[in-house]
Amino acid sequence: MSTPRRSLFITSALPYANGAIHLGHLVEYIQTDVFARFQRLMGHEVVYICADDTHGTPIMLRAQTEGITPEALIDKTWQAHTRDFAGFGVAFDLYYTTHSPENRELAEGIYLALKDKGLIEIKTIEQMYDPVQAMFLPDRFIKGTCPKCGAKDQYGDSCEACGATYAPTDLIDPVSAVSGAKPETRESEHHFFKLSDPRCEAFLQDWALDSGRLQPEAANKLREWLGRDDNGKSRLGDWDISRDAPYFGFEIPGAPGKYFYVWLDAPIGYYAGLKKWCSDHGKDFSDYTKPDSSIEQIHFIGKDILYFHTLFWPAMLHFGGFRSPSRVYAHGFLTVDGAKMSKSRGTFITAQSYLDQGLNPEWLRYYFAGKLNGSMEDLDLNLNDFIARVNSDLVGKFVNIASRCAGFVRKRYDSQLLGDARDQGESQHAQLEAQLSQAAPAIAQAYEARDTARVVREIGLLMDAVNGYVDQHKPWELAKQPGTEQALHRILSTTLRCFARLSIYLKPILPTTVARVESEVFGLHQPFDWSQLDRPPVQSVGEFGHLLTRVDRDAIDALIEANRSSLQTSQ
Ligand code: 2FM
Ligand code: ZN
Repeated sequence: MSTPRRSLFITSALPYANGAIHLGHLVEYIQTDVFARFQRLMGHEVVYICADDTHGTPIMLRAQTEGITPEALIDKTWQAHTRDFAGFGVAFDLYYTTHSPENRELAEGIYLALKDKGLIEIKTIEQMYDPVQAMFLPDRFIKGTCPKCGAKDQYGDSCEACGATYAPTDLIDPVSAVSGAKPETRESEHHFFKLSDPRCEAFLQDWALDSGRLQPEAANKLREWLGRDDNGKSRLGDWDISRDAPYFGFEIPGAPGKYFYVWLDAPIGYYAGLKKWCSDHGKDFSDYTKPDSSIEQIHFIGKDILYFHTLFWPAMLHFGGFRSPSRVYAHGFLTVDGAKMSKSRGTFITAQSYLDQGLNPEWLRYYFAGKLNGSMEDLDLNLNDFIARVNSDLVGKFVNIASRCAGFVRKRYDSQLLGDARDQGESQHAQLEAQLSQAAPAIAQAYEARDTARVVREIGLLMDAVNGYVDQHKPWELAKQPGTEQALHRILSTTLRCFARLSIYLKPILPTTVARVESEVFGLHQPFDWSQLDRPPVQSVGEFGHLLTRVDRDAIDALIEANRSSLQTSQ
């Protein structure tokens, strides 16, 4: 291969271990998986790591409500998440947990390194405390009347009625959402990561701005966050990284009763997973993580957690003695039929319900890929458009190419295909083979840019060209005419060779379908790779069933209904 092999360490954000995976999550895992699969198809070395994000107050309280230990809750969730991701073809090299010995060791190590550098400060803060439950309350666990508009039953950090944000101490008549008790204000010592230190600001300026590590929209946000206020003071505040017991997490070394805040050890979970994978595969963790590592470290995230991944995480890594991320890619949020996903409308669709209804996960992979363009814009799952795209592109254009031609080859040519038309000097057919091969650099570039919307558009044009060729030559008519054996064989072979190329292009998006193309349609023993686009190694065709079937509206309606009714039963 002419391009040197790259080595990439890729992650998706770690989902919380107290909720089901839904289609909103899947946008990110599908986007990352397509990117990782594309890199593998190019022959690069990829390690794709994810894990459950297991610590924090909500998980501790959820376990209490369910009457189980947090460990039992996170085990149960890990099983469900693993099953859902596998169901959608998301091929992690490891799906781990942040509640692991590797994560504890790494979190402690980073904390101690920061402390050594004078970047940890202990400050006394005031916080709401639930005297009945004997615990400090995160903002989300305090409810009361909005100080701005008077709306009742609002959270401690913001009002859903008027959008105001405030401190929980500003709420009128606050109550603990855990016990219903009136919270008290109490003091406690917290550990802070001193992001306001000039060393952090200088490092982050350098890391984040004009470095190509971030999308332009994200770099603009960073410029805002890293800017100075009217008095010329850095806008970066220190970050509170500790929480008081009781807390489900890791205790801070040398600080009994104080725990790392979940957001401290969550991203370190990427490294913990990598470390575990390295030890399972005889690899050297430090090759990936040393400051001068040449391996690319790429994080896929949602735009809501940009702050954590572009300020705290790179600073933790850098001052903790590690390399910093090569790139952070954020995506937008998913809407369904133009609106926020809603439990009452049945559009808060879980991964499990989609699979349980017997819908093909590759339909969704294809649809999301067709919408994602590498930007931070939100994307809409329009259910009618979903049905139309799958049926017209995947079934009508893609699969149809193979079904129209393979039978003739099996019956009339003993299943054998002719070689590349360009090698026979047959220009009209050669032209189509050349067109399909020559699209490779543009499609690769679009995959690399995560612009899979463009990938899908380009492939769509190629599908149209192949179908146009079949329509023009009408193999079903030629088959009835005497003396056309040679011409017919050429047309069928060219069409199926082009189908093989389309399959290679689509492989990162439709891994299961294309695996069937490899084994059932072409009887290959080795999977396709990108370098075969010029001369796909296909020689014969076999018997195969429906590669993909059509979606119908009834199945989608049943899915919506299932999600609406699961709401009723869970209440
Ligand atoms: O926002 C979330 O769902 C977090 N659980 C993401 C964590 S990503 C990483 F930092 F671990
Ligand atoms: Zn309000």
